[in-house]
Amino acid sequence: MSIIDDGKKYLMNTYNRIPVVFEKGDGVYLYDENGKEYLDFVGGIAVNSLGYNDEGLKEIIAKQAEKLMHVSNLYYTRPNVELSKKLVEKSDLDRAFFCNSGAEATEGAMKLARMYADKFRNKETKIIAMNNSFHGRTFGAVTATGQLKYQKHLGPILPDVVHIDFNDFDVLKKEALDNCCGIMIEPIQGEGGIRPADKKYLKKVRELCDELDIVLIFDEVQCGMGRTGNMFAYEYFDVVPDVLCMAKGIAGGLPMGAILAREEKARAFEPGNHASTFGGNAICSAAAGYVIDKVESLLENVREQGEYLKGQLEKLKEKYDLILDVRGVGLMLGMEFDRPVSDIISGAFDDGLLLLNSGTNIIRFVPPLIIEKDDIDKCIEILEKHIKNLK
Ligand SMILES: Cc1ncc(COP(=O)(O)O)c(C=O)c1O
Repeated sequence: MSIIDDGKKYLMNTYNRIPVVFEKGDGVYLYDENGKEYLDFVGGIAVNSLGYNDEGLKEIIAKQAEKLMHVSNLYYTRPNVELSKKLVEKSDLDRAFFCNSGAEATEGAMKLARMYADKFRNKETKIIAMNNSFHGRTFGAVTATGQLKYQKHLGPILPDVVHIDFNDFDVLKKEALDNCCGIMIEPIQGEGGIRPADKKYLKKVRELCDELDIVLIFDEVQCGMGRTGNMFAYEYFDVVPDVLCMAKGIAGGLPMGAILAREEKARAFEPGNHASTFGGNAICSAAAGYVIDKVESLLENVREQGEYLKGQLEKLKEKYDLILDVRGVGLMLGMEFDRPVSDIISGAFDDGLLLLNSGTNIIRFVPPLIIEKDDIDKCIEILEKHIKNLK
């Protein structure tokens, strides 16, 4: 039996996997078991910010593994405390909580909002989230996710979570005035089609949350950690949330999630209120500490290559009517078509280029942040070939 046959037999049937077995990676390239090379514009779904085989990352993981991997949160470890200090010093937030994934981060943020209202306000319970959003697959996170397909067969889901249209301030204000404890927003919707928030809208939401003492949560799981060309996506929008959710790229491929919060809101969590056995374990923390410094040194590259890639995509849009829109920030870009993009993605795959959809009609570009101009040129060449094939 091949690995693929065994995978089909033994793994739960939750993913539509492409039949390829990857064996190793280097820089922005992946290699399958037959040695075929793939240029990677997926980056493990916006995770592998440093690409593959980063020497420094491998070294820090090996060193930490030799010393200590895990001791639980009953105690302190140096890599974990140093990581919390680094995140706080680099951001405008005051305290960190660590977990293992994006869903755990958004779930924790929702709990924080409810607990804050329960302890310090009038026990408001409503959480406002956006249509088209994606916040993860745990019960709370999937309830906040504003796409019904993810909630199918699951009911009843968490009560008091409402969805409204993204970027519509009047509707948001109306909902916020009634029993609301928290508002959760992706500054750039990822799974929802690479849709950035309107800067003015976010500023108004910030003011409203200040006025009503509502916890403003930004889910930067996909758009954070350098992807916009800023360390945190909120810096691009110039609006600081009360609570920031991170995961994906934070530890360069090791599982880690984090919640940062302003002191005033962080106080809602006291010993016993929230926990995660593996959260912030020494090895993931050491990796994240390294990744954050490295990502900081790549921010200029993200801005530069992001602009170049966007420019090249826009040129394609001018040439081909079936491309409706090019949008996004930094190295989080989307290209919307008037038809499904599955044929483009599978054709590109055959030619050694990994691309990712977002919904049926949008190709999303979330490559490693180390990407260079030549890689982009190669991507555009293959992409154009398969756009032409569609016509
Ligand atoms: C914005 C956002 N939030 C949360 C999640 C969930 O993250 P995870 O799959 O690590 O639980 C994702 C995953 O795609 C995401 O894009």
